[in-house]
Amino acid sequence: MAERLQKILARAGVSSRRTAEEYIRQGRVAVNGRVVCEVGAKADPVMDRITFDNKPIASEEKIYLLLNKPVGYVTTLSDPQGRPKVTDLLVDIPQRVFPVGRLDYDTEGALLLTNDGELGNRIIHPSYEVNKTYEATVPGRLAEEKIRLLKEGILLDGHRTWPAQVKILAEKKNETTVELIIHEGKKRQVRRMLAAIGHPVKTLKRTAYGGLKLGKLPSGSYRRLTMRDLKKIFSGKIPFTFKKIPD
Ligand code: URA
Repeated sequence: MAERLQKILARAGVSSRRTAEEYIRQGRVAVNGRVVCEVGAKADPVMDRITFDNKPIASEEKIYLLLNKPVGYVTTLSDPQGRPKVTDLLVDIPQRVFPVGRLDYDTEGALLLTNDGELGNRIIHPSYEVNKTYEATVPGRLAEEKIRLLKEGILLDGHRTWPAQVKILAEKKNETTVELIIHEGKKRQVRRMLAAIGHPVKTLKRTAYGGLKLGKLPSGSYRRLTMRDLKKIFSGKIPFTFKKIPD
């Protein structure tokens, strides 16, 4: 996504934004080999080759955050209805991060945010089979037969979902809390799976990505992930070359 050049330069550690504007006026900044002297011109920090004094600027430091998303926030980066965005919750993060997979407005829990597109894709893409764990409360009790259907896969949009791991966490007279582990990310998948067996979701929370658990992170808070945390997502090893971040 295109951003103002002075912002990109400042984030890459070249200078403050104000000084970067000076550098742009002085003709010291080029985008894809063409000098840009117009302050306010935009470039894409990922796609474009940006140089300062003919040297490529440093690529942005990679950052990985785990947020406990509250209900009532959208995971999109802009919302036509003007609802609160998860990125509004980030206060001291200069990098522009994006959510890894979506969580519905009315779903809470674990949401990864990063500026590392490669890692993000590998977590979302079903071929890497990164499990996502959800806790749903639904009305009534789940009969054995219904649990079997979830485990075998449910037809959604003409495709059967991959078998889910299902565990009953708590049963009350009129309500069940069920844990579902899936590795696909179809839109509103858990809600639609449970609705399809006659148990529409009352509340939904994502509690883990792979072996990385949300734990006791308070709602609305986030923490920076370490290398150990990232390995937990992929069951012990990172499946691609990866710039090291602190353990
Ligand atoms: N499944 C859903 O139905 N909603 C979510 O937010 C995530 C998974």
